[in-house]
Amino acid sequence: MLVSLATSIFGVIFSAAPVLAANATEWSSRSIYQLITDRFATSDDTPVPCDTGARKYCGGSWKGVTNHLDYIQSMGFDAIWISPVSANLEGATSRGEAFHGYWTKDLDSLNPHFGTAEDLRALSEALHGRRMYLMLDVVVNHMAAPALPGNNFTFEGFFHPFTNESYFHKQCFVAESPDPSNQTAVEQCWLGDNDLPLPDINTEDPDVVKTLLDWIHNLVQDYGVDGLRIDTVKHIRRDFWPDFANAAGVYTLGEVLINDTSYAAQYTEVVDAILDYPSYFQLANAFLNTEGRFSSLAHVMTSSQQSYKHGLFRTASFVENHDQPRLASLTKDQSLIRNAMTFPFVHDGIPIVYYGQEQGYQGGADPYNREALWFTAYQQDKPLVQHIKIMNAARKEAIEFSPSFLTTPMKLLAVEDHSMAVSKPPMLALFTNIGSENSRGVTWHVDAVFPPNELLVDVLTCSKVVADQQGGVTVPCAYGMPQVLMPAASLRQGGTVCPEVATRVRAKSASLPGVRVTWAVVMASGLFFVLCKSRWMW
Ligand SMILES: *[C@@H]1O[C@H](CO)[C@@H](O)[C@H](O)[C@H]1NC(C)=O
Ligand SMILES: *[C@@H]1O[C@H](CO)[C@@H](O)[C@H](O)[C@H]1NC(C)=O
Ligand SMILES: *[C@@H]1O[C@H](CO)[C@@H](O)[C@H](O)[C@H]1NC(C)=O
Ligand SMILES: *[C@@H]1O[C@H](CO)[C@@H](O)[C@H](O)[C@H]1NC(C)=O
Ligand SMILES: *[C@@H]1O[C@H](CO)[C@@H](O)[C@H](O)[C@H]1NC(C)=O
Repeated sequence: MLVSLATSIFGVIFSAAPVLAANATEWSSRSIYQLITDRFATSDDTPVPCDTGARKYCGGSWKGVTNHLDYIQSMGFDAIWISPVSANLEGATSRGEAFHGYWTKDLDSLNPHFGTAEDLRALSEALHGRRMYLMLDVVVNHMAAPALPGNNFTFEGFFHPFTNESYFHKQCFVAESPDPSNQTAVEQCWLGDNDLPLPDINTEDPDVVKTLLDWIHNLVQDYGVDGLRIDTVKHIRRDFWPDFANAAGVYTLGEVLINDTSYAAQYTEVVDAILDYPSYFQLANAFLNTEGRFSSLAHVMTSSQQSYKHGLFRTASFVENHDQPRLASLTKDQSLIRNAMTFPFVHDGIPIVYYGQEQGYQGGADPYNREALWFTAYQQDKPLVQHIKIMNAARKEAIEFSPSFLTTPMKLLAVEDHSMAVSKPPMLALFTNIGSENSRGVTWHVDAVFPPNELLVDVLTCSKVVADQQGGVTVPCAYGMPQVLMPAASLRQGGTVCPEVATRVRAKSASLPGVRVTWAVVMASGLFFVLCKSRWMW
């Protein structure tokens, strides 16, 4: 009764309070699990059929996500990125149904296939109760029409809140622009095509802009959103974005789908961060191809560190997402996959793992990379689940041991054709693309990165390595697998990372015992519950 009283006081006090949102710094230590709401979990765990190739709604929901937060959190993630939440085009189109959420029809309504406003709020609250963050995917550039205007489709009253064609740019398709580098066409022409046009919202119109700023502000407030992933950022004029990010008031991570660091760099000036697509485009070459080379990846990463506003800090690193073929569709060699999967965890940005990778899903390009996860029964005893658990835990240990882990740029060392080392103290990650049938063999030599004679452990296997008298390491590669070396002294005793070797004694100031004490107080005092909850909520 006290608690329910407290909850209602909480509601009264905080409904009008400013959003206590998470900014780029607060996100930097996080690890994100990206999921497709329709494909992650059904509300009651009914294992409904889902034909991935058919591009139809399969029945996943926000309630389903809420019910499976244990699965996500137990892998070490402390944030999720869910599909766009706005109401989409209904029914079949030439490209199937809008199960992915990227075909907005009505910004002011939620997508009823995913649940109700209460369900979305419950997801947000469940996340905050676990001290996890909610990242929403938002589409601001365009809406989606079932056909060309005049062809079974008319603007009048079709979209909300943009109820007639005056709110949209004149029809022309980006894909038909004679000059792909014509930025005006990129920004003002339409994505999509004759069969599924994506009418381009006129973000040059101040009334439209005001509507969008109010919309994002309210969306963030209404659902306790902690961060945004923004779709198709390069398709809106750059000077639109700072106001949009301010109105949101939370971390903004933009999708700038480009294989060019100097073009991408311009967008690091207008939103908090961008997804690290330029590195992604080199990954397949560096990590997934035994004939590939690490030098082009190293070149792109170094140039991003130099040209982005905050270097690669605040970016987000990924090796799979809903728009790209899964790694396991590109190679069957598990050692190559393990190398690639390890990379985001030693990157300067925030690691993102795309749902299903942990279960070994092998879908190719869209739509095959959007499989239902419920067929796996969310099993935890899978090799890649374990790999991700270790990397999430090791990164947290690195941050706890050395807070400068988050602000020290990674150094790419000993870059050879088939091997590379990434130093981000206290971590040293050793990568190779020789593959598991390595007749060639690789030995990593890295000079002077640790204290002399330091006892190190490969967190992926818990095997020990001792640094030489200059603090360098010489390590042979086994079966093409990556290694992630950390000092035994950086790993917490009683932790989950190689506990037999770990020697760090946990600092007294650690926060978890405090939480336990405060929860005891919660039972005693409803009012105190209100005060504490406001601190942890976000
Ligand atoms: C984020 O907020 C914290 C305080 O909560 C502040 O110290 C930090 O400077 C902010 N970071 C950014 C990038 O605004
Ligand atoms: C309009 O829709 C009908 C029924 O879906 C279809 O048969 C017809 O071809 C469409 N017309 C145009 C011009 O697309
Ligand atoms: C569109 O709607 C606005 C606001 O209701 C109105 O002022 C405008 O005349 C309409 N434009 C067209 C082309 O219908
Ligand atoms: C760029 O594209 C826009 C929109 O299609 C067009 O109006 C403009 O003439 C193009 N500019 C050049 C230099 O081709
Ligand atoms: C990215 O750009 C580089 C250099 O221009 C090129 O070699 C590479 O093929 C491109 N990759 C993709 C996927 O477009």
